[in-house]
Amino acid sequence: MRIFSSIAGMRAACRERFRSAGEPALLGLVPTMGALHAGHLSLVRAARSRCGLVAASIFVNPLQFGPSEDLARYPRPFAEDCALLEAEGVDLLFAPSAEQMYPHGQGSTFVESAGIAQRLDGRFRDGHFRGVETVVTKLFHIVEPDVAFFGQKDAAQVAVLRAMVRDLNFAVELAVCPTVREPDGLALSSRNTYLNADERVQALALSRSLSWLAEVAASTQPAQMQALLERWREQLMAAEDVEVEYAEMVDANTLEPLQTLAQGGLAAVAARVGQTRLIDNLLLEPVLEPIEHARTLEETLP
Ligand code: PAJ
Repeated sequence: MRIFSSIAGMRAACRERFRSAGEPALLGLVPTMGALHAGHLSLVRAARSRCGLVAASIFVNPLQFGPSEDLARYPRPFAEDCALLEAEGVDLLFAPSAEQMYPHGQGSTFVESAGIAQRLDGRFRDGHFRGVETVVTKLFHIVEPDVAFFGQKDAAQVAVLRAMVRDLNFAVELAVCPTVREPDGLALSSRNTYLNADERVQALALSRSLSWLAEVAASTQPAQMQALLERWREQLMAAEDVEVEYAEMVDANTLEPLQTLAQGGLAAVAARVGQTRLIDNLLLEPVLEPIEHARTLEETLP
């Protein structure tokens, strides 16, 4: 694995593929902030299986952290991360410093998809998606990937980046990979390392409530969506030491609130467990026709 900390070095290495004879290899990019776990590595494996050349990036992007967030204490186990990426067969790793990416401080040019960047996490983390869109734009310009791999775990990020790629005509395909979970259901996250033993148990409220929702939604009349949403929220609010930031059912592409379950959608939750902010989500299957033997919501309570 070749490791680059300079933009010029990474760009030159990515372009080498055009200099060899024949068709250039497909280049896949896996952008990350490091502290890698099996979720990140599933993206690398997806990239490895589709692309002849695989690039990854590790950059804890200051632009996407708010002033009171965890930028300073975000875990940075760089040597371990390199070993994991090397073992997965990554060809090129881009690991720039903040000065390399933002030599003029945080710069004056930003990318932000109006509307959608203010929904879900964007509503609670001011400027977060502006930071994500700006850094991903920079990474796309530096690496020029054919395919970029992102996790469904960050469903709002996927929707925002899809809008950005579509609206600004980036010549890149976004590939979205399923959420990787612990055996008990907790979605893997670099921030799970912040949880103490009690919080680790309390954090299961997110994935458990989503499993309940998945089961119940399948046998709910499409028009009963509001009632289902309320039940789901009540369940989350009742969970011990879990402070819900949002729990919404939205259109997975626009992130606008759903009116019915007919087309399916995205159930997304963000909550604080202790000091740690966690997110999780579930893609809801469309419920197309009224179901003859639909259970009442009362019958489905855990
Ligand atoms: P980071 O949180 O490091 O995540 C990097 C990628 O891994 C994202 O696409 C994320 O959705 C995916 N990922 C995280 N946990 C996952 C899980 N449990 N299962 C599957 N995929 C998972 O997301 C970012 O970094 C940044 O915002 C970034 C896109 C790198 C821009 O700075």
